[in-house]
Amino acid sequence: MAAPTPHRTDDWWRDAVIYQVYPRSFADGDGDGTGDLAGVRARLPYLAELGVDAVWFTPWYLSPLVDGGYDVADYRTIDPAFGTLAEAEKLIAEARGLGIRTIVDIVPNHVSDQHPWFRAALAAGPGSPERELFHFRPGRGENGELPPNDWPSQFSGTTWTRLPDGDWYLHLFTPEQPDLNWAHPAVRQEHEDVLRFWFERGVAGVRIDSAALLVKDPALPDFVEGADPPPFIDQDEIHDIYRSWRAIADEYGGVFVGEVWLPDAERFARYLRPDELHTAFNFTFLTCPWEHGRLRRTIDDTLAEHAPVEAPATWVLCNHDVTRTVTRYGRADTAFDFASKRFGTPTDLDLGTRRARAAALLTLALPGSVYLYQGEELGLPEADIPRDRIQDPMHFRSGGTDPGRDGCRVPLPWQADAPSYGFGTQAEPWLPQPADWARYAVDRQSDDPDSMLALYRRALLLRRTEPGFGDGPLTWLPTEDGILAFRRTHGLVCVVNLSDAPTALPAHKRLLLASGPLDPDGTLPTDTAVWLSA
Ligand code: GLC
Repeated sequence: MAAPTPHRTDDWWRDAVIYQVYPRSFADGDGDGTGDLAGVRARLPYLAELGVDAVWFTPWYLSPLVDGGYDVADYRTIDPAFGTLAEAEKLIAEARGLGIRTIVDIVPNHVSDQHPWFRAALAAGPGSPERELFHFRPGRGENGELPPNDWPSQFSGTTWTRLPDGDWYLHLFTPEQPDLNWAHPAVRQEHEDVLRFWFERGVAGVRIDSAALLVKDPALPDFVEGADPPPFIDQDEIHDIYRSWRAIADEYGGVFVGEVWLPDAERFARYLRPDELHTAFNFTFLTCPWEHGRLRRTIDDTLAEHAPVEAPATWVLCNHDVTRTVTRYGRADTAFDFASKRFGTPTDLDLGTRRARAAALLTLALPGSVYLYQGEELGLPEADIPRDRIQDPMHFRSGGTDPGRDGCRVPLPWQADAPSYGFGTQAEPWLPQPADWARYAVDRQSDDPDSMLALYRRALLLRRTEPGFGDGPLTWLPTEDGILAFRRTHGLVCVVNLSDAPTALPAHKRLLLASGPLDPDGTLPTDTAVWLSA
């Protein structure tokens, strides 16, 4: 690892590059077709060479995996498919030895229906104290046959399931993910203990799943279109929870990143006040189309909304829930929207890849921290999963119209000429890999100076060693239409051409990196970005 450079602050998280590992699909160490901690441990040198500062693991706890592990049955046990707690502890320590911090994923809004609390609640029956940990209610209608309210699910369909004993329970996601009642002190206490449990094991941070959903309007009123906020999102009382969490994190020097999907910038920023979460994912940027004006506005709005609370921005192009970047940017509609995902959308992968390369240089040059989702550094496209192999509940709950999220969760290709491309020893991993993925394999890209992997490695190295990156000011430079050009400190300049024509580069001393070849006359082609030292 390169030595820390003077421009980096002690607050590592303010400008970190954080790599998201989806353990089920990263690397299979025991050869059963499912990724695991042994696989991650074996590949830590890869992550160190890539040059990331931290790894965020999507949930690795005991889980029936109805929603990819976001249905947790026990936070203090690693799912046997992934390994053991002792292995997780080793992994955290080994990663730290390579300069890589660990971030775990906590899912406070709901648990698995196999969690002991929910099983006890089912057994104890209506009106029991065990049911008070969740949202159990009698139904409406003459015989209680109608759900207690009309809240829409985050995964389409209903949010209430009726039990044979007549009670209904609330689940904003699948019926296997009952929502916890955050008004109950035991729910708060348990999560505070879980945070300590993981901080004690040396994790540097916690990603908070569905972070704006925990608190519900206690009256559970019907959803009124346009209500702001709706009765199940962003209730004011939620901030009290995060203040108490922050006090715990501060004891350990830990940091939070919240999964906060909120359209209102001011309400979003409230989560980032100095005594709440350190950071939150920038979904406005993730959903933004590849379009000059929209990108520029999103960057400006992001910086403006973070400034008053003095929180660093985060820059995210994709994750385990959304269409992979090279696919999204290769489509007519380059925005991301859960509602409009469809099978068979025409895609130009060469175009998408060119743009994704430029977007990589753009995001890595912006002030703040950057999230990379495993495989993004390989330029993996969204895979078409045969319908009979799809596992994601989002697909089933849409009535089969939404392809779901499995297409971005396909096991990684490590070796071009090995079974399952070196993911494991089995030919067939838990999700099928496309037949033409040898070209994306790590070994093949490592030998190719023009590969996406080579670009990311060089970009991350420069970002670590050249001054001007990370936290700090950004100044826009005057440009022709369709060009994003900004200056950071120490003469660092980033230029991205989103127009239809080549553009001249501003005066500079050195070209640090380009996302693609420049034109023979030295101009910057469409959908290409450069870093300059000016
Ligand atoms: C978050 C996760 C997603 C999961 C959902 C329910 O949005 O990122 O994968 O399905 O929460 O826990």
